[in-house]
Amino acid sequence: MKILVINGSPKGERSDTLKVTRAFVEGMGETFETIDSMRVNVKPCLGCYACWWKTPGVCAQQDDMAEILKRILQSDLVIWSMPLYCYGAPSNCKVLFDRLLPLSTPGVEVDDEGKNYHQGRQEIHTKIMLVSGCGFPDRENNYEGLEFAFTRMFSSDCPMICCVEAPLLGIPEAKPVADGYLEYARRAGAEYKAAGRISAETQALLDAPMFPPDEYRARINGR
Ligand SMILES: Cc1cc2nc3c(=O)[nH]c(=O)nc-3n(C[C@H](O)[C@H](O)[C@H](O)COP(=O)(O)O)c2cc1C
Repeated sequence: MKILVINGSPKGERSDTLKVTRAFVEGMGETFETIDSMRVNVKPCLGCYACWWKTPGVCAQQDDMAEILKRILQSDLVIWSMPLYCYGAPSNCKVLFDRLLPLSTPGVEVDDEGKNYHQGRQEIHTKIMLVSGCGFPDRENNYEGLEFAFTRMFSSDCPMICCVEAPLLGIPEAKPVADGYLEYARRAGAEYKAAGRISAETQALLDAPMFPPDEYRARINGR
């Protein structure tokens, strides 16, 4: 299975989110290739719509994005691995999202639920998932924006691992709880490989804080 991880953390290899992503792929019994979003040369979308009208499917800008699109389309699974920044994607990932425009067409369609969308330019077999870490202890009132963007951009059943209290994954004293969380991520990977989805039970474990929120806040705040 060809798995591409787009590492959206500005911390690169030191990303706490990436620890969860690695555990997930390990659980799948697979390996992965990486694109480090901080090291690619991808300019912001110009909004010129050349990729829709002038040169359908091809962006007017010549940078690394054409190659990235090729690698996405050639993958069986793309894992967007990114921290939550300001209730959404970090800017380095947002640039990549915008530059996916050549994959869609200008026509506005409406789905069974009455939601408008742009039809894809071609049949895409690549599965997409999100792995994200954040600093607050809650998914609620925090992740809604990023989750919504993923369901609308990619698929309503796009698997998502949103790891709250992710900084604990990088703190040596928190190793026992962090190891427990990474084990859940491995289990999720094994389930995804076997059934194409994460079970509700494992998802609930992945959604829950590793540490009681009151204690987490107290430790972070030095109390
Ligand atoms: C600019 C910035 C914005 C952030 N915004 C949020 C946020 O909206 N919600 C949250 O819970 N954590 C937020 N965080 C914390 C990060 O999501 C958290 O530190 C995460 O674990 C970093 O993951 P990484 O090590 O994979 O980069 C923010 C951090 C930065 C630097």
